[in-house]
Amino acid sequence: MSGQSDIFDFLKTEGIEPELTEGVKRFRAEYPVPEEFGDRLRSRERSGGFVYYGREIWNKAIAALLCGKNLLLAGPKATGKNVLSENLCELFGRPGWNISFHVSMDASYLIGADTFNGEKVVFRPGPVTECARCGGFAILDEINMAKNEALAVLHASLDFRRVIEIPGYERIPIHGAARFLATMNYGYAGTRELNEALTSRFAVLSMPVISGENLEKLLFSRFPDLSPKYRGQFTALFMDLEKKAESAEISERAVDLRGLIDALGLIRAGLSAGDALDMCVRDKTFDPFERKLIGDLMESRIPRALDRSRIFS
Ligand SMILES: Nc1ncnc2c1ncn2[C@@H]1O[C@H](COP(=O)(O)OP(=O)(O)O)[C@@H](O)[C@H]1O
Ligand SMILES: [Mg+2]
Repeated sequence: MSGQSDIFDFLKTEGIEPELTEGVKRFRAEYPVPEEFGDRLRSRERSGGFVYYGREIWNKAIAALLCGKNLLLAGPKATGKNVLSENLCELFGRPGWNISFHVSMDASYLIGADTFNGEKVVFRPGPVTECARCGGFAILDEINMAKNEALAVLHASLDFRRVIEIPGYERIPIHGAARFLATMNYGYAGTRELNEALTSRFAVLSMPVISGENLEKLLFSRFPDLSPKYRGQFTALFMDLEKKAESAEISERAVDLRGLIDALGLIRAGLSAGDALDMCVRDKTFDPFERKLIGDLMESRIPRALDRSRIFS
């Protein structure tokens, strides 16, 4: 089981509390990995080898899950909410259900509904029911995009009752290993506040923007051939953008770690640094004044004409 030892090794090098990793091992012994869910099980390969960097968040997430809590990962975009959720499925050895929330979603989509199978009416379980029955981890992605009415159906599943209530059916108990991991972006149009009843049923992890130290580690793992000098400069550029957004000189739009990583990919593929950063970072804002500011920041760290021969070794 190489996948297992890999993620445990990673947690060790990250300095995660040994008591917590021991707790995870006991959890895995109590709830053996259900092999029949083959393609729902996470592995290093499946998650592209991506790992979440951030010791404190790891410690809190593991502790809460071991105590039977459900987690709400709340924070700005590209703070690793989905990467962490995937990693947690892998660490705990549970099959994962990714459920993307949207405004027109309703309770029957989540829980299931009666359907006619050609002969008779049968109950076809939705993803929450399937996952809860077999002890999976349900990733409720961008949970605040759904209407509160659709979410009310989750209340009994998320609190001490640990059951799914389906009108007209027996109550379905939730497997002891099942957990709900909700993610929530805030700060952009279309996101709603999550109501209090729902929020109070989760332990909330407030996801920080990645630190400079952890960003260097991330860049090193994704681009081992990126020169140390430019690993430092790209990290510094991201921190500059973050600082400018914090002081409201620019919007959050350009503080986009996904964009920064994409730009490095384009440079490695042959674009100049300026073109790649324009496409992946600067031009995500549409305000000319803001673009100019961001362009100047970029240029002060990474000359536009640089290409892969100077940036990668
Ligand atoms: N702390 C972190 N550790 C590892 N990767 C991170 C971290 N923060 C952001 N990322 C990277 O940012 C990108 C977006 O991550 P994702 O989990 O999809 O973010 P979110 O769901 O918060 O919008 C990924 O490439 C991810 O690896
Ligand atoms: Mg996400």
